[in-house]
Amino acid sequence: MSRSKICLNGVTLEYANGHNRARRFWGLRQRRSNGGSNTVLDNINLEIQRGEFVSILGHSGCGKSSLLKIIAGFVKPTQGDVWIDDRPVEGPRGDHVFVFQEGALFPWLTILKNVTLALGHLEDHEERLAKARHYLELVSLERFEGYYPHMLSGGMRQRAEIARALAAQPDVLLVDEPFSGLDYLTRLQMREEILYLHMMLKETTILFVTHDIDEALQLSSRVVIMSEPPARIKCCHTIDIPHPRLLASPALAELRSQIYHHLGVHAAL
Ligand SMILES: Nc1ncnc2c1ncn2[C@@H]1O[C@H](COP(=O)(O)OP(=O)(O)OP(=O)(O)O)[C@@H](O)[C@H]1O
Ligand SMILES: [Mg+2]
Repeated sequence: MSRSKICLNGVTLEYANGHNRARRFWGLRQRRSNGGSNTVLDNINLEIQRGEFVSILGHSGCGKSSLLKIIAGFVKPTQGDVWIDDRPVEGPRGDHVFVFQEGALFPWLTILKNVTLALGHLEDHEERLAKARHYLELVSLERFEGYYPHMLSGGMRQRAEIARALAAQPDVLLVDEPFSGLDYLTRLQMREEILYLHMMLKETTILFVTHDIDEALQLSSRVVIMSEPPARIKCCHTIDIPHPRLLASPALAELRSQIYHHLGVHAAL
């Protein structure tokens, strides 16, 4: 038992022969192989409190997405377990956990309908429409409610996704590099949008995988750095600096050098 929002106990994940040695879907028999196995995550222990904004940083291929999939309940770890709200994760929990990722909008629905879908908990159709419009307005997409996702720019699609997350009011928001396909300026704007989202959803716990150290510095209350595979948690940095944060401030500059150092990127120092 734990009082954390999310608790990872000794999470280890092995893939074997190109297949997931852990069970891909809950309830299926574990797939075994006589061939070599690839340990991706090695004994990950992490506690995350309600309302925290935790960024996960690490080299490509170290297992960040795998870790998020385990927390989302899409993949079962080979060893260890994950708890959310003192309940073991035993599969996807669509009711409270929202996975924010690129391409998650249904392409055959307008963005108004996409956002309305996230409001399934409201019974009254008119109320759902009014709320969906309200969230689209918050991300300045009210004029585009009748557009399909392919008719929007990359940044607008991400804003629609933010409106969907706002509508869903999730307990846990899992975000896996949502802005990687966006240009630099749009990414900067999206940082502000995500901060806004966090401000609106104060109780929501956010786990944010990113390669962008500045993004992590500007957004997070804690940064978790993973080691090379088999990945362990190398270190954590708590960032107790109010928003908006100036990246050029001495405190953040110092933290940035420490993070680069932990990631072994000396060229940037
Ligand atoms: N379904 C799978 N079957 C076998 N191996 C896998 C599978 N999914 C991921 N892997 C392996 O697990 C390792 C970690 O992959 P993962 O996608 O979690 O890394 P990541 O840290 O998210 O990388 P990136 O930053 O590039 O997105 C990689 O070596 C990858 O090849
Ligand atoms: Mg990844």
